[in-house]
Amino acid sequence: MGKVSVGVACLFWMICSVRGIGVNWGTQSSHPLPPETIVRMLRENGFQRVKLFDADYGTLKALGKSGIEVMVGIPNDMLASVGGSMKAADKWVAKNVSQHITSNNVNIRYVAVGNEPFLETYNGSYLGLTFPALRNIQSALVKAGLGSQVKVTVPLNADVYASSSQYPSGGDFRTDIHDYMLTIVNFLSVSGAPFTVNIYPFISLYSDPNFPVEYAFFDGNATPLNDGGTLYYNMFDANLDTLAYALEKNGFGNLPIIVGEIGWPTDGDRNANMEYARRFNQGFMSRISGGRGTPKRPGPIDAYLFSLIDEDEKSIAPGNFERHWGIFTYDGQAKYPLNLGTTNSGALVPAKDVHYLERKWCVMKPSAKLDDPQVAQSVSYACGLADCTCLGYGTSCGNLDARGNISYAFNSYFQKNNQLEVACKFPNLSMITKTDPTPSVGNCKFQIMIQPYYESVGQRFGCAGKPLGLVSVLILMILTIL
Ligand SMILES: *[C@@H]1O[C@H](CO)[C@@H](O)[C@H](O)[C@H]1NC(C)=O
Ligand SMILES: *[C@@H]1O[C@H](CO)[C@@H](O)[C@H](O)[C@H]1NC(C)=O
Ligand SMILES: *[C@@H]1O[C@H](CO)[C@@H](O)[C@H](O)[C@H]1NC(C)=O
Ligand SMILES: *[C@@H]1O[C@H](CO)[C@@H](O)[C@H](O)[C@H]1NC(C)=O
Repeated sequence: MGKVSVGVACLFWMICSVRGIGVNWGTQSSHPLPPETIVRMLRENGFQRVKLFDADYGTLKALGKSGIEVMVGIPNDMLASVGGSMKAADKWVAKNVSQHITSNNVNIRYVAVGNEPFLETYNGSYLGLTFPALRNIQSALVKAGLGSQVKVTVPLNADVYASSSQYPSGGDFRTDIHDYMLTIVNFLSVSGAPFTVNIYPFISLYSDPNFPVEYAFFDGNATPLNDGGTLYYNMFDANLDTLAYALEKNGFGNLPIIVGEIGWPTDGDRNANMEYARRFNQGFMSRISGGRGTPKRPGPIDAYLFSLIDEDEKSIAPGNFERHWGIFTYDGQAKYPLNLGTTNSGALVPAKDVHYLERKWCVMKPSAKLDDPQVAQSVSYACGLADCTCLGYGTSCGNLDARGNISYAFNSYFQKNNQLEVACKFPNLSMITKTDPTPSVGNCKFQIMIQPYYESVGQRFGCAGKPLGLVSVLILMILTIL
């Protein structure tokens, strides 16, 4: 069915040269939706490609026979083992690629070796480990007879290159990693594999208060950058072309480029909101539709949106926005209107058959006092283990009063613990209510969690809600007794 409808769609749209849009599917969630539900969402929204960060068995099994092209990933912490031993690389490919292609009919096309391993925050830990892993995985793929079907690549952050002149034409790889980059780029070129780059105008806006806002978007309202007569109206084009020039300068002007991640978060920062996210993602989709590339690379652009769904257990070290990149919420509901150009209605299709917990919340008791000495430690305990990234300046729940703040923290902890009664026993401070505490104005939402999903017992025992459920509830009980 998939193939036929794609064929027909191509006939009508006349954009068969466009390889369709891809999306990143991350799974760092306390309550992930079942993989089958997500795969259905992918299909109903017309995503033709998906990028994963690991090679989870259940995820790949669900993708079998869907026809969706898959990029599987090797996490950074496995680079040392697959790079250090050919046997480990062979095993990885046998278990996580070959087996899924032959037994489950999964359309695996790429292996992402590492994830942004050259980020400066890693202090060079993966610099020497990435290439050996790339080389071993490529050899293993060739040995397994998959050399032409499955390509290796390394998703890199855009700061592996820079321009010496502020213009794209001055692009080159960063001096401190130049040799590492050339080794990798040369290997990709010889292997017929693409370069994968993640581009984030949001991060530029987040980290530089003087960044011109309009230049992050695609509306053409920014003052253009004039690179020897070529005008750049947005950061994406300029950034991608900086890479294209860097490749050309080093003799790889024809190496294909994939945009591994691109997107905009909706919460956790004043620039992370629905309006900007919609504007950016819609602008991007329109920008690349019809196979239109950049001035330097005018052909179609292969890209994966970041991301499909919010992940409430992502590290917030980079910022509170990290848990809010999804175009869908944790429960698979569309956050804002977005036309991907892949569905008849032009609207996002939400997840089907989502099972929620009961309609109840944990809030601060009306009788509890704000100056109760237990408040501070209770809130920091709840926020430390659950998710308070929607509180704070410029966020969706940034306008709550102090009591609202406290209730939000309690509820987040309660929901994450599957509404266990003991998870709403903050000493003398909390109570369970059936009245929705969500404010009537604004975007702030007191969530109800979805039912935990367990993969067939034994496969991966209790992936959802499990760690908190047992350990931290015990701690909470101890707190309560004290
Ligand atoms: C296959 O991938 C999974 C998930 O990333 C990983 O845990 C496992 O170790 C891999 N298998 C082998 C044999 O390397
Ligand atoms: C990198 O170095 C900084 C400063 O020395 C340190 O705080 C940080 O933990 C290091 N990060 C990693 C991933 O090793
Ligand atoms: C609510 O919590 C946030 C984040 O902890 C804090 O920045 C804000 O000042 C609090 N607001 C009130 C009214 O207490
Ligand atoms: C809870 O409140 C009661 C009555 O005000 C008080 O006696 C008790 O010590 C309080 N318990 C805690 C843990 O604060």
